[in-house]
Amino acid sequence: MKKVIFDTDIGIDDAMALLFLHYSPAVDLRAIVTGFGNASVETTTRNALYIKECFGIGAPVYRGAGQPIGERLGEGYPDFVHGSNGLGDIEIAEPAGRAEALPGAQAIVQIARENPQEISIVAVGRLTNLALALELCPELPELIREVVVMGGAFGFNGHRGNVSPVAEANIAGDPLAADRVFTSGLRTTIVGLDVTQETIADSQFFDALKDNAGSAGDFIVRITRLYLDFHERVTGTRACPVHDSSAVAYLLNSCSYTTRSGIVRVVTGGIAIGQTILGDPAADFETTAWQGKPVCNICTAVKTDMVLDLYADTLALAGN
Ligand code: BDR
Ligand code: CA
Repeated sequence: MKKVIFDTDIGIDDAMALLFLHYSPAVDLRAIVTGFGNASVETTTRNALYIKECFGIGAPVYRGAGQPIGERLGEGYPDFVHGSNGLGDIEIAEPAGRAEALPGAQAIVQIARENPQEISIVAVGRLTNLALALELCPELPELIREVVVMGGAFGFNGHRGNVSPVAEANIAGDPLAADRVFTSGLRTTIVGLDVTQETIADSQFFDALKDNAGSAGDFIVRITRLYLDFHERVTGTRACPVHDSSAVAYLLNSCSYTTRSGIVRVVTGGIAIGQTILGDPAADFETTAWQGKPVCNICTAVKTDMVLDLYADTLALAGN
């Protein structure tokens, strides 16, 4: 069983990823840490508590960062993608429970110290909580087993950005935090748009979830209506990329992905803010910005059927 901290800005596709973790027999979900991104941190924390209560998730919820540590691209929240409540504007009852008193970054450090080398972090929002945790605990890279990040884009398979021509939303939302995480020595795999925009869930996929995944399938179909409306307006097809669940799919079965390693830096200002750039460690550049830093692992290709089948098969466990 993998002991997992889920760091999330819940969010429609984040909610799908949380249910993927919850129903996976290979996962021991230890904590949900929230952050701003798809909505305010107040809203994403409420969403985490709501989903926890609806589906009997045992893991505690810790409220994380409400703002970036550096400059970010844009302002406000993408309510045209995730709805003003972050969950596709379906009706949501106020949860009975509350978030833990310990702030998200401190919770990451505490859980890592209690479980040295055992914790996997699946980070599918801004990397602010992790950057703050690194500040609190510089030895975090030695304590954490692995980090799987949904974020960034390197141009593989033609995918470069979804909030600018060169930037992906999670990285553009706090580029400085992402740069600190990617150069920290945390054993990190980046599951970027390069592969998530290749992994497409269509109406058939959601129909099957409705048929096979019980109340979880029903919930996913309800929250994704608005998400599919948005993607249909943009692409003309009623289908969406599988972003955050791809990070979970990598954690559970990395064989579905082709990877390469390299030093990753993030542009922290200017028109390319949020761009993730992979350097060649062997190259002799004029700049030293890509020299002598720890490497990350980057997903460059994906066996999409394996990812979609793993999601469907895992969620089918909710219907049993
Ligand atoms: C990422 O941005 C957010 O809107 C999604 O939840 C996902 O984590 C995709 O770029
Ligand atoms: Ca997210």
